[in-house]
Amino acid sequence: MPSLFSNISQPAIHVDPDEQIELRARAAGEHRATALAHPNIAFIKYWGNTDHLQRLPANPSLSMNLADLYTVTTVAFEAALTEDLLIINGTSVTGPGLARVTTSLDLIRTEASLNLAARVESESNFPVGSGIASSAAAFAALSVAGAAAAGLALSEAALSRLARRGSGSACRSVPAGYCQWLTGDDQTSVAASLAGADHWDLRDLVVIVSQEHKSVGSTGGHQIADTSSLQPARVAGAESRLAACRQALLARDLAAMGPVIEEDTIIMHAVMMSGHPPLYYWHPATMALIQATQQWRQEGLPVYFTIDAGPNVHLICEAQHAPAVEAAARRIPGVQNVLTSRAGGPARLIEF
Ligand code: PMV
Repeated sequence: MPSLFSNISQPAIHVDPDEQIELRARAAGEHRATALAHPNIAFIKYWGNTDHLQRLPANPSLSMNLADLYTVTTVAFEAALTEDLLIINGTSVTGPGLARVTTSLDLIRTEASLNLAARVESESNFPVGSGIASSAAAFAALSVAGAAAAGLALSEAALSRLARRGSGSACRSVPAGYCQWLTGDDQTSVAASLAGADHWDLRDLVVIVSQEHKSVGSTGGHQIADTSSLQPARVAGAESRLAACRQALLARDLAAMGPVIEEDTIIMHAVMMSGHPPLYYWHPATMALIQATQQWRQEGLPVYFTIDAGPNVHLICEAQHAPAVEAAARRIPGVQNVLTSRAGGPARLIEF
């Protein structure tokens, strides 16, 4: 299969992320589908599980899908294959990466009573290690494409559950726009849309200060969360931070939402830094951006930060302020690049 994207900025084929194809009946013996999904940025963070295998979160979370970034995944179940194959951005992946995909495919195969291995080909238009959780878009696209290829007509909630089993935050990339993921059991802990992408023209400016691969990824990080004596306090307060964030989001009130998302980020990083072993994701430029954000606000620029499990900083502002925020961020020493995204739609089939 030719590469879907010859490089990051120039897709080799045109994929319109706003386009959703009609689900049509699958011809007999046809076991192939392609889906597109966006990564998401959490405003209220998911950190720690009550069940690591099922990825049941310790607390509810809330996020925004990122329209300008996406992963396109094709799943083809083929009688000629003896084992699952995974190709990411043109490179064959084996080991733990493949095993994680096989675990998700097994859930689909069991549900569909299908006994065929799959070829999975995935391409993203954003760089790996850019501070954007690539696993969220990857497992959302895999779930939507895999279920369709297997002939399953799953509800959005069932697809969100399937995505969650691959990567917790992936469940929030299945519904559209601004999504909430509640705690619960394997059936009920799924994400749902609070508001569509057009509800509010927020921008996420991903400020890249390092492209290094982090030594402890989020799957390992969730397991360390419980070793911090601060985690119970973080979890206890998450519900009320989520309620405040949701209310401000629905009212399009960034002055109310911003301080809540910053506090939620800092509490999560305090848990990370006080665990055993401690996880220090920040670089000096991360701290410089946190302090600069406060300074910019004092100077009249309404912008707030959030940071995932890495050193890169996501600056959240309304569309009209994005050019000024980007220019200010690029002046901070250590900033390598800035990727900007609007709010995005749901994970969807683009070829079936
Ligand atoms: O879905 P995971 O296991 O990659 O965890 C994501 C964790 C954070 O990005 C730090 C927070 C979040 O809610 O997305």
